[in-house]
Amino acid sequence: MKSREVHLVGRPPGTPTPDDFRVVEADIGDPGPGEVLVRNLFLSVDPYMRGRMRDRKSYVAPFGLGATMTGGAVGQVVESQVPGLFPGDHVLSNFGWREVFTCAGDEVTPLGELRAPASAYLGVLGMPGMTAYTGLFGAASLKDGETVFVSGAAGAVGSVAGQIAKIKGCRVVGTAGSAEKVRYLVDDLAFDHAFDYHEGQPRQHIREGAPEGVDVFFDNVGGELLQAGIGAMREFGRIALCGAISMYNDTEAAPGPTNLARAIGLGLNIRGFLVRHYRHMRKDFMRDVSGWLADGQLTYRETVYEGIESAPDAFIGLFTGANIGKMVVRLDDAG
Ligand SMILES: NC(=O)c1ccc[n+]([C@@H]2O[C@H](COP(=O)([O-])OP(=O)(O)OC[C@H]3O[C@@H](n4cnc5c(N)ncnc54)[C@H](OP(=O)(O)O)[C@@H]3O)[C@@H](O)[C@H]2O)c1
Repeated sequence: MKSREVHLVGRPPGTPTPDDFRVVEADIGDPGPGEVLVRNLFLSVDPYMRGRMRDRKSYVAPFGLGATMTGGAVGQVVESQVPGLFPGDHVLSNFGWREVFTCAGDEVTPLGELRAPASAYLGVLGMPGMTAYTGLFGAASLKDGETVFVSGAAGAVGSVAGQIAKIKGCRVVGTAGSAEKVRYLVDDLAFDHAFDYHEGQPRQHIREGAPEGVDVFFDNVGGELLQAGIGAMREFGRIALCGAISMYNDTEAAPGPTNLARAIGLGLNIRGFLVRHYRHMRKDFMRDVSGWLADGQLTYRETVYEGIESAPDAFIGLFTGANIGKMVVRLDDAG
């Protein structure tokens, strides 16, 4: 059987371009004993993949040049030689940007009966949703009724983080990169205040939305917004350093926040985290977030690109703000 897959063919020093990727055709063998053949329905593109394009040691290994872009995907079993896995079963995998693959049965995670459309397992019910949940309750020890500031608030992680904080009775201020996203945060997600970080002074906007200061800052962006957020913190506030997407394409190290000394006087807790540091919270996450989805307290949006050849553009779009909610790629068989 033939499958198309996307290979990394360049290591850009700055912003990636479509030339850094190539779509190639591969032959896929039949599954042997203990193996399954899976056809992907949705592929995930995620900011952390940018770090993996560099040939240097990080918390995940770099992608190989001429090798497939690996990462999250949801698919359906086509053929199975694994007891308990049947054609039609939905599975989560980490083989990335490819249409079809064969692998050992224990290299996929069966999703069981779906609690939401399959693509949601790459977003709100998947790694980004769990990042939002664990960042708030694990890294930032969120308490009911606090004041929360979220950067990157209209994206996959940020939109879930802000909504969870609202569910917990918090006052929530968010920032994102366009007027449309600001409207989404206020009108659809019921944020108390939102602003476009391209307009005016972020510090001033945060003060308007949180006149008493911020207890929990969920930072997805870093750079100037991290500095503005530090400037808005109250005593004993907590900052969850989730990501720093504004710096991922930098070719030179950016200066750190100049106001870090505020953390001393205010007794701030600034904590970086990876979702995998909080694996033990998976059950709580699935119970709470699927419950909130089911009763309508939590909603989600996706930005969907079509076809495997669009995966590079979808990925590059993360750095130009092309997405609202989770960015996914739908493959031809997803219906
Ligand atoms: N710690 C963890 O375990 C973990 C896990 C998952 C994700 N993350 C991090 O969480 C962050 C969000 O990830 P996600 O998957 O939810 O992506 P996302 O927010 O859905 O997509 C990326 C968004 O980042 C914003 N952005 C891009 N360049 C920017 C810049 N220079 N300044 C400000 N905003 C910029 C864009 O929105 P605008 O239009 O608003 O600019 C874009 O839509 C990323 O930093 C990611 O690395 C961390």
